[in-house]
Amino acid sequence: MAGHAAPRIIQTAAGMLNAIGLQNVGVEEYLEHKLPPMRRYPRCNVIVNVFGYTVGEYTQVIEFLNQAEGIAAYELNVSCPNVHAGGMAFGSDPVELEYLVRKAREVAARPLIVKLSPNVTSIAHMAHIAQEAGADAVSLTNTFLAMSIDVETRRPRLSNITGGLSGPAIKPIALRMVYETAQAVSIPILGMGGIVTPDDAVEFLLAGATAVQVGTASYADPRAVERLAKGLESWCRSHQVERVAALTGALDIPRGQ
Ligand SMILES: Cc1cc2nc3c(=O)[nH]c(=O)nc-3n(C[C@H](O)[C@H](O)[C@H](O)COP(=O)(O)O)c2cc1C
Repeated sequence: MAGHAAPRIIQTAAGMLNAIGLQNVGVEEYLEHKLPPMRRYPRCNVIVNVFGYTVGEYTQVIEFLNQAEGIAAYELNVSCPNVHAGGMAFGSDPVELEYLVRKAREVAARPLIVKLSPNVTSIAHMAHIAQEAGADAVSLTNTFLAMSIDVETRRPRLSNITGGLSGPAIKPIALRMVYETAQAVSIPILGMGGIVTPDDAVEFLLAGATAVQVGTASYADPRAVERLAKGLESWCRSHQVERVAALTGALDIPRGQ
């Protein structure tokens, strides 16, 4: 996939707007050239983000990936807001989501994480549907549909006109969605959306996430993930928390609230 024409990334207040259009080299090229260097880090697990325009394409990509070694899990991207078909179209329709996840689960030889769209009325409901269709975990959130306009030219700043908003600007909303989803499912949740500091990560864990992901922060600081992993460790040490897992869902809601 060639992706969209530039400009496809715009900086916003406390965030970033992108419409990359899922540029990628395709699954065969990925397995030959992209996966091997990633496998050189023995302490790291590789989770492959999977996309297709149709159910058949999703399952075909998974079947290719099944044949490779060194992949820990698949993350089904049903939430990209920047493609004309597939992606968010699946993540925002309960019937389509259920069908796709069931078909993907049938072929996937590895754990299946379903990456959900925040551009729905109830992400918790969609998470429940994914769970019932066989998802082993859900990840949320993907980016929020958004746009930016240059008032001098009166033109949209992104060539795709609209894009997906990420970064600290979305954190409180993404956090609320993780919290609501944690009430609706029993499978693990991978939380994300604007995580920059160890405290941000702890918030997502307390809201019910089992693990967290970091996207936008890595654009500002390519070592953000390393810094966060170390920061989370020191946070746990200074708060007498023995295992990060102890934080999952450990939100303290005062009585009567
Ligand atoms: C430039 C860019 C590219 C992205 N590409 C993908 C993608 O290919 N698949 C996907 O599931 N999510 C993609 N995302 C969404 C992120 O993985 C993440 O869900 C979202 O940005 C919120 O987290 P963050 O605020 O830490 O970036 C992308 C985000 C950005 C900013």
